[in-house]
Amino acid sequence: MIWPAEAIWEAVEPRLPGFTVEVLPEVDSTNSELMRRVRAGDTAPVLLVAEHQTAGRGRLGRTWDSANRSDLTFSLGMPLAPHDWSGLSLAVGLSVAESLHPALKLKWPNDVWLDGRKLAGILIETASMGGQRFAVIGIGVNMTVRNEEGLRTPPAALDEILPGMDAPRALATIVPDLVRQIQRFEVQGFAPLRPAFALRDHLLGREVLCSDTTAGVAHGVDSTGALLVHTAAGVKKITSAEVSVRPTPPRAENTH
Ligand code: BTN
Repeated sequence: MIWPAEAIWEAVEPRLPGFTVEVLPEVDSTNSELMRRVRAGDTAPVLLVAEHQTAGRGRLGRTWDSANRSDLTFSLGMPLAPHDWSGLSLAVGLSVAESLHPALKLKWPNDVWLDGRKLAGILIETASMGGQRFAVIGIGVNMTVRNEEGLRTPPAALDEILPGMDAPRALATIVPDLVRQIQRFEVQGFAPLRPAFALRDHLLGREVLCSDTTAGVAHGVDSTGALLVHTAAGVKKITSAEVSVRPTPPRAENTH
């Protein structure tokens, strides 16, 4: 594959001095690789793309399947010092959805969905090194339709709505806006992004079931990005990234 490393570097380096772009044919996980580098003291901003991951990781200790070689897998690593980190994952998901297509939705906290199916996943990890905080923002985008067997959520793929879009073009579309969004978040936090998130909120008004057993109707997010669930016992705020949320399938009106 031919990657637009130069074009991305030119778009990003002026706002992120010292930024580099690196493409690896294979690595266990772009997030794991950048976390290793930070722990070894390398805190320069970097975009690391893998043509293939052998041990891709997802949220909540899940694996991220990289069997489909056309998929996009990358991590952006950069020093980051927001005064409040809450809502960063929502800001990242929003940026990805906005830069790719108007039809894309967000499923709290940070999955990008298309027509009720997952199109992209985001894994954010942080590390401290010499008093400096560093964020590793890993993103995996399904590019082409695949075999659904064995996956928890049936996947969607970008070529359903953008035929002909390949991983290198998707990367060049996503990254410059993403860096801008993260830098804005660092200064302003999530609050200014709340209306834009609401426009793409897949869970809004839907019945949801959370892994901490909270059940109710999702009523959007607050200014810190917490999910507001209206339950029988009142409004509950879901803040923990450890909680997974599923829309409850609509009940059948008639059973024959
Ligand atoms: C999720 O949906 O649970 C998050 C998936 C994140 C996958 C990406 S692919 C690039 C980066 N490297 C990883 O090992 N994971 C992230």
